[in-house]
Amino acid sequence: MSLASSESAPAIDPAFAGDPSWRVTRELRDGTHVVLRPVTPDDREELRRGFLALSPESRYFRFLHVGAIPTEELLSYLTSVDQRDHVAIGATIESPDLKTERGVGIARFVRLEGSAHTAEAAITVADDMHRRGVATVLLRELLRAARVRGIRTLRAEVLADNDTMRAILERAGAVKVLAESGEGTIAYDLAIGDEREKPSLFDVLRGAAETMALRFRR
Ligand SMILES: CC(C)(COP(=O)(O)OP(=O)(O)OC[C@H]1O[C@@H](n2cnc3c(N)ncnc32)[C@H](O)[C@@H]1OP(=O)(O)O)[C@@H](O)C(=O)NCCC(=O)NCCS
Repeated sequence: MSLASSESAPAIDPAFAGDPSWRVTRELRDGTHVVLRPVTPDDREELRRGFLALSPESRYFRFLHVGAIPTEELLSYLTSVDQRDHVAIGATIESPDLKTERGVGIARFVRLEGSAHTAEAAITVADDMHRRGVATVLLRELLRAARVRGIRTLRAEVLADNDTMRAILERAGAVKVLAESGEGTIAYDLAIGDEREKPSLFDVLRGAAETMALRFRR
């Protein structure tokens, strides 16, 4: 699947600028449709369910420590977002009768205090949905949401052994920020250019896929 095909009409959809009714639908490589929408406090129980369904490894990679659990405080922090300085976009799959939906991923950023143009980002996709393009469509909308809020740099702190996310970031042109890196973690900064200016992250991700494939082949 070329990543471009899942974004066939991205230019038409407005970026998420804070409107609670914002929704876009994206098609994954297997034809599955995911709905991207703002995360709200009503997502608390679905987030708890998704968190508990994550493997210990995925929790470790996302929360940078072993044994992360969905405490009430953490669930409040992850769902009570102002969608201005703390933005969270969820990906859901709706049931055929459109009566229910299942959360399959969340991408978020938090604007850093004292640096209005930089935000720290994080992303998680449900384990059974990996490698289907969910992170790709989420990251695209997260980048666009950051750009319309005047954010020029997305910072990601990842564990040194999180090869997948490091490959995605490095291939996307993110640079290591050693001064911000910690014990066992590496901080990356990804510059957000003008939408027309730079090749989309997805071209980059496609590159990452090719690199990964190459690495595995070798
Ligand atoms: C990292 C993560 C978000 C990727 O999500 P995903 O939906 O599987 O990613 P995508 O399907 O959009 O893949 C994007 C590209 O990443 C690379 N990639 C993703 N998972 C990979 C894997 N397990 N092995 C090799 N390459 C991989 C590929 O290049 C892929 O390109 P492709 O579309 O050509 O296959 C997901 O693995 C995850 O949630 N991990 C646990 C939490 C975490 O590590 N978060 C990041 C730190 S905040």
